[in-house]
Amino acid sequence: MQKFIITGGNRLNGEIELQGSKNSALPIMAAAFLAKGKCTLESCPNLTDVYSAARILNSLGSKCSITGNRAEIDSTVVSGSKISETLMREMRSSIMFMGAILGRMGECTFSVPGGCELGPRPIDMHLAALSKMGAEITDINGEITCRMPKGRGRGAKISLSFPSVGATENIILCAVLAEGETVINNAAREPEICDMCHFLRRCGARIKGDGESHIVVEGVESLHGCEYRIMPDRIAGATYLAMTAAAGGAMILKNACIAEMEPFISVLEQTGCFICAADNRIYLRRGGRLKAIRDRIRTMPHPGFPTDAQAVLMAALITADGTSVFEENIFDCRYRHTDALIKMGADIQVMGKAAVIRGVKRLHGADVEATDLRGGAAMAVAAVGAEGITRISCISHIDRGYENFEDVITSLGGKIRRE
Ligand code: EPZ
Repeated sequence: MQKFIITGGNRLNGEIELQGSKNSALPIMAAAFLAKGKCTLESCPNLTDVYSAARILNSLGSKCSITGNRAEIDSTVVSGSKISETLMREMRSSIMFMGAILGRMGECTFSVPGGCELGPRPIDMHLAALSKMGAEITDINGEITCRMPKGRGRGAKISLSFPSVGATENIILCAVLAEGETVINNAAREPEICDMCHFLRRCGARIKGDGESHIVVEGVESLHGCEYRIMPDRIAGATYLAMTAAAGGAMILKNACIAEMEPFISVLEQTGCFICAADNRIYLRRGGRLKAIRDRIRTMPHPGFPTDAQAVLMAALITADGTSVFEENIFDCRYRHTDALIKMGADIQVMGKAAVIRGVKRLHGADVEATDLRGGAAMAVAAVGAEGITRISCISHIDRGYENFEDVITSLGGKIRRE
């Protein structure tokens, strides 16, 4: 099993090009299944999750190939409507293929995606919404089949009890080829949903209101292929900014989606880092010791502070001057990385949804195990600023979401190797 070996203590300096967004590439790859034609995706990140999505597409009869950062997906002719249990287990967010398969094939079969490191990942909102769009849903020993009796979904008015990103995406993916109009109230507003809708409009879909909490989709008969560039990954960007804040130094993040990163940047700058953002570039410099963040850091649906950036910001704040408090409001257990940070010398107390971070002067290296994608990245953020050597195992979690992770950190002057 591979590990990252990180020798902390170097300040980081340099500039990096931000990778394409994992959480945009995945729903867009699912959306490409709806198009009767060839889709070419640029800036597609080389990630294990993206390769899993490619395997799902090919298992459904689509032709998906990835060369460098270009994905070519031809779903002119498709044949399957079932995602195998193996592929579902490989990537729980395969659930976002449900809406696309149902929209294109009129039926879809998959095994209930289990919980994951972040806690139980229910899909009740997904199923309730698709049922309102006419799907008949059966669950036989954990294998779920959704079927549109008339072979095609019907538009519906859907109000989400929570602005679920995945549920919003699945509804849109099923609605674009449904009969009539679908309205989503309390829709998620994440930028990756807008990116998916931009892609779908380029394929001929009729969608309005994405990015707001009221989205309207007018169903069409079919979609055609297109060429599209995937948006930058705002969470990977937050990770490298947090890493530079933790280690000290200065960096330029090129190809950054500044507006979409604002909820993170507006919090990070409260640590005293100098941050300047313009023309798709973000410059960050950390001079002296970071300051703790006075206000409680609450993770919220976009445009609130992103839950995916909670762990990496925490890792930067563990050596800040003062006490910071996080409140995790999106997932049931998204503090699994704190044990590893405590092993490195952090002073963290978790109490339910809250985590209290009392700043310590310095961290030391340790042998730790990545618990999940962003938790593993947080361990690397802490390790780069720590004294001594940190070994991070189970780095397959990190490879799910970060392209060329060790090369990026090395290019900034960090000492990291994979073995
Ligand atoms: C997406 O997950 C992202 N994944 C997550 O990023 C991200 O943390 C999350 O949105 C929130 O922003 C992808 O885009 C592939 P949700 P998703 O549905 O769609 C509950 C990362 O690190 N819920 O908005 O699964 C759910 O349990 C990953 O890149 C229900 O109860 O998130 C959670 O507590 C991690 N019932 C909350 O809503 C449902 O039917 C938010 O989930 C659906 C969700």
